[in-house]
Amino acid sequence: MTGTLLKAGPMTVTIGVDIGGTKIAGGLVDLDGMVLARARRDTPARSSDGIVVAIIEVVGDLIVAAREAGLTAPAAVGLGAAGLVDETRSIVRFAPNVDWLEEPLGPQVAAGCGLPVVVENDANAAAWGEFRYGAGRGAHTAVCVTVGTGIGGGIIHQDRLVRGSYGMAGEFGHVVRVPEGRLCGCGKRGCWEQYASGNALLRVARELAAERRSEAGILLALGDGTPEGVTGQQVTVAAREGDPVALDAFALIGDNLGSGLADVAALLDPEVFVIGGGVSEAGDLLLIPARAAFEANLVARDHRPIARVVSAELGNDAGLVGAADLARDLTA
Ligand code: BGC
Repeated sequence: MTGTLLKAGPMTVTIGVDIGGTKIAGGLVDLDGMVLARARRDTPARSSDGIVVAIIEVVGDLIVAAREAGLTAPAAVGLGAAGLVDETRSIVRFAPNVDWLEEPLGPQVAAGCGLPVVVENDANAAAWGEFRYGAGRGAHTAVCVTVGTGIGGGIIHQDRLVRGSYGMAGEFGHVVRVPEGRLCGCGKRGCWEQYASGNALLRVARELAAERRSEAGILLALGDGTPEGVTGQQVTVAAREGDPVALDAFALIGDNLGSGLADVAALLDPEVFVIGGGVSEAGDLLLIPARAAFEANLVARDHRPIARVVSAELGNDAGLVGAADLARDLTA
């Protein structure tokens, strides 16, 4: 890290902040996509004002970190927001899992921190981060699917981020996969994110643990002993330790993820799917069943190249690294 700090020069450092349903993670990022310093806060999910305050604090911490490291002050801020961002890249129009409605996030954060701010959908930012610096490098057409509180999507087509006409392309999490299915935070029923997100994983693990308590010993022992006391992280830990219930929860969520990827491939035919977000840190627990279901459901699978399905190389940093890089647009 010290070497990177020495290399960073004027205008080369920007701030990226990934604002998710559970945490706000910021980083000071250089031209090589290296994260030189970090700051984070929990997301005050039911308070849009609280979120703005927390973002400004994260940015403030990173400005101080840059100063302490002897770097030129960061030139701009990129925010990756878990919601539908308008085409001017400043307003979050709507967010299914965060308390945002017509939220002027860009101007509010800019006023609070005194730097130019660009707002991007969190999964778009992650897709861009992976395309520039991670698992999507070298691909010209890539799709990033983030599996966290919800499901996000980012599309790279011919080396460009696809935003759509109104800034809202790639909302894969809200494609209906189960007609009349579970109620989604967006108000519709049966959305993909109700079946293949981190929230879905936790729900399924709790349900299975309640039905099969005697098999869920490892999982239940990690929490307070009740199915409701189980956390998402614990499902991953238990699955790694061989808990059959946690493994079945991953198998089901991976299956739902992979069959949905086949639908995305029918629409976009990417070279590679990069799977990011917090749940992707479970690696093969998620990816092996996802790949199997993807291939099983892919249209004309014996007559086409099969897209790779890989983990985000930048892991959970993809969103903040991508947002920081997109903020360079403001400094050009
Ligand atoms: C939102 C997306 C977001 C995704 C991941 C979805 O519920 O609609 O905008 O990218 O969650 O955070």
